[in-house]
Amino acid sequence: MSAIRALSASARRLRKPVGVASTALAVAACVSAEVPYRPLASGEQVYRQVCMACHATGVENAPRLGDRQAWKPLVDEGQDTLTAHAWVGVRGMPARGGQPGLSLEEFARATAYMARAAGGDWQDPDADMLAEIEEEIAERLASLTQGK
Ligand code: HEC
Repeated sequence: MSAIRALSASARRLRKPVGVASTALAVAACVSAEVPYRPLASGEQVYRQVCMACHATGVENAPRLGDRQAWKPLVDEGQDTLTAHAWVGVRGMPARGGQPGLSLEEFARATAYMARAAGGDWQDPDADMLAEIEEEIAERLASLTQGK
């Protein structure tokens, strides 16, 4: 079956005129010719979608949002170290917050958002900070596989 016939067959199934479907295809072709782009979620958005499930109420002793006492020693570890350890996972804290689709940058934004909520002076990570976090992740993974 030719592409056009397949298209008109599926358009019939959808009860839409073929013109609409081919316009949509043309638009899709245009978009995919450009650099793939997905806007990153903000720290607060990621917190609400992923982290809040545990960090709002303190599931399994997760440090709660805005709990300065719980976050103080964590914030003192430094943004690169803490973000890396949480990304890799620690005890009840699942790697990547249990969301494999989350980018490191989004995860780091969510961590910074929680640090700020507890009085920490952390910004969304720039390229330098992301590189430092990646270094810490590599070290953490190496020490875990060596059983240290
Ligand atoms: C399934 C529950 C759960 C989810 C979802 C979750 N966390 Fe956690 N998180 C925990 C628990 C439990 C701890 C405490 C771990 C410990 O120290 O025993 C924790 C600890 C942390 C810590 C401190 C790590 C350390 O080194 O002590 C950070 C930072 C953190 N989480 C960030 C996040 C971020 C960011 C998200 C969302 C992207 C997230 N968490 C989602 C359960 C969760």
